Amino acid sequence: MVKVLGEKVYAMEEPGFFRVRETLRGSGYLPLPIEIAADGISIEKLMQSEANVVYVTPSHQFPMGYVYPVGKRMQLLEWAGRNNGFIIEDDYDSEFRYRGRPIPALKGLDTHDSVIYLGTFSKAFTPSLRMGFMVLPKGLLNIYQEKWRHYKSTVPLMSQMAMSDFMSKGHWERHLNRMRVRYRKKQEVLISCLQSELGETVSVIGEQSGLHVVISVNLPVSENWLLEKAKQHGVLVFGLSVHISEKLKHLLKILLGYGGLGEREIVQGIQLLKKAWIESGKGD
Ligand SMILES: Cc1ncc(COP(=O)(O)O)c(C=O)c1O
Repeated sequence: MVKVLGEKVYAMEEPGFFRVRETLRGSGYLPLPIEIAADGISIEKLMQSEANVVYVTPSHQFPMGYVYPVGKRMQLLEWAGRNNGFIIEDDYDSEFRYRGRPIPALKGLDTHDSVIYLGTFSKAFTPSLRMGFMVLPKGLLNIYQEKWRHYKSTVPLMSQMAMSDFMSKGHWERHLNRMRVRYRKKQEVLISCLQSELGETVSVIGEQSGLHVVISVNLPVSENWLLEKAKQHGVLVFGLSVHISEKLKHLLKILLGYGGLGEREIVQGIQLLKKAWIESGKGD
């Protein structure tokens, strides 16, 4: 994608997906961090920057879990139209929206052909397939076809054909409907357990969709302490600092993934977090 886009100035959400930051950095383009709020990326800050390509996760901002309202999506598209810019829309887990009305993807609202749409089967199906896809605007598709066709897909054709068959027979739609119900239930269990076990110590962010939530932890400890304590009690949770620039590093937020866990494991996990973070005490 970077090859097809050519010389550009990139920006991305801050906090934002560190794998994207590091991949762009590895290609020689360190993206400018643009702050976000509960309604998504700051358009004002984006306009003040030199960027002409921006990476965003509007369906479920990663890592914070915010959902961009339609107004913000229109502003982003206007920005792209006015600046001959491109928006990279990473729609990684939009299949699982539990609350609020559905909002169209940027790609669906785009009239300037300025959105590069990224999708993955890692969340809705399984990450071990290593299957994803990209929908390029026409202009970029032409550039790809003229100059960069020697970059081939690394996903085995057999897997692609199996998925195509799965979809055309209607299994994909049924799978998503089934999983949406299942994940919603898991999330309900997670949130009610967080409330009953950890109460005021935590507050939950980003529960409208997706397969993870973020919790703010109201304790006078470090992220490292929280991660280490959880690990000692056999629970794997993730810190947000890796997705955050220096100035925001003090935010004490932890990402909890629940997609791959059963309801009993979720309950046990939260009970263990209570032991780890509250009952075992600070400083030991
Ligand atoms: C923000 C975001 N985008 C995309 C992906 C999917 O990555 P991949 O398709 O490489 O598994 C993930 C997976 O964790 C993610 O968190």
